Amino acid sequence: MPTYVDRERGLVSREIFVDEEVYRLEQERIFCKEWLFIGHASQIPNSGDYISSRMGEESVILVRGKDGQARVFLNSCRHRGMKVCRYDEGNAAIFTCPYHGWSYGLAGELAGVPRFKDAYHGELDRSQYGLLEARVCNHRGMIWATWNVTGPDFYEFMGDMLQFHDSMLEATDGGDGEMEVLPGVQKWVVPCNWKFPGENSIGDHYHGVSHVSVELVGIGPGGRGSTRHGDGGYRALAMTAFPKTGHGSRGGLENPEAVARYPFPPFSDPAAEAWHRAAWERHQINRPGERPAWDRLGNGGNIFPNMNYHTRWPRTIMVAHPNGPTSTEMWRWFLVDKAMPLEVKQFVRAYFLRYSGPGGLTEQDDMENWSYATIASKGAMARRLPYNLQQGLGHAVDSEDPIRGARYSGGFISESSAMVYYGRWQELMDADRATAR
Ligand code: FES
Ligand SMILES: [Fe+2]
Repeated sequence: MPTYVDRERGLVSREIFVDEEVYRLEQERIFCKEWLFIGHASQIPNSGDYISSRMGEESVILVRGKDGQARVFLNSCRHRGMKVCRYDEGNAAIFTCPYHGWSYGLAGELAGVPRFKDAYHGELDRSQYGLLEARVCNHRGMIWATWNVTGPDFYEFMGDMLQFHDSMLEATDGGDGEMEVLPGVQKWVVPCNWKFPGENSIGDHYHGVSHVSVELVGIGPGGRGSTRHGDGGYRALAMTAFPKTGHGSRGGLENPEAVARYPFPPFSDPAAEAWHRAAWERHQINRPGERPAWDRLGNGGNIFPNMNYHTRWPRTIMVAHPNGPTSTEMWRWFLVDKAMPLEVKQFVRAYFLRYSGPGGLTEQDDMENWSYATIASKGAMARRLPYNLQQGLGHAVDSEDPIRGARYSGGFISESSAMVYYGRWQELMDADRATAR
């Protein structure tokens, strides 16, 4: 594996965004190895509820068993590989393969084989041909899975990124309430490499120029002319990234002068405005003097390799599934307080959709950049030129304080976190063995 990422000089080869062979190795060395976000427990509340999801290129089924456990299986029949489930979501007692009819129970076991007695002479060892099961962790309703059954557990994988991850699960009023995802996952294909969104999410505060037009129009929850930002008025001093894991957040090093104050943007809908005002009243009782975690720890980030998240306005998760070196299938979930009244959910849903997703005005700016950058990096001449990530080079600070294992960018605008992301990419690509399997 050549060194595509030059950490000393702040250069990244374009080959890793366009090359077929690099892409093939990424599937083995990254997507078969790392923990990947699958879905939210609120998508499968009852026994037999399932959703189709993905791990890298591959289709998986997330299903709740009769014992209440969430399990993840490779969606590929053990006979000839047919997809045993071709729906986005549903409820099933059993998954029957459409090709020859092998059927699998909710725990993945091969439950039925047509003509078992006469065609197989009763000799097929059915215990060996269940669906391939991934290792799963359900952390506060967030369901993650990996094929690496002997590697680090989820908490080791997350390290001190966990508090950033959890900031998107904190109830708006700082209480014990749970989050849930709005029904439906947005799915669309963008002709770009899957790493573009990851790099952008971990710490590109530099691309504001891309969104100038949409910010001028004003598409915030307050309606025309408003912005989405309700950050209490304080900007983080630096972004946080973790060289050991490749995760990072666009914030985390707090301004010492920051104090708790009303953190929400204005809402044009009176019910949404009143609900947030009341939530802040409760917050001051639940967590006196504290700023919400999603306000303190940055408004989003990336969990390596491909789970991008935003903690506010909208609160959303986007997984960038690789479809090939120059194609990415984006899946976007929106999170809301379970206790939020339906009319407020409807209001924020409409706002989320005009911000993010295939119809989202701000997301369209990003998609345009990523797809044109990918295509313009593909040519024989273009791919000779490395990308320049020298912004802030040499100005980042490694510190255990206040967050263990953190690398703080030298300032609010820096490519230091992006280099952490690509540094981890190179490290995993250099590894000898893809997975313990
Ligand atoms: S491919 Fe599934 S039963 Fe043959
Ligand atoms: Fe953007």
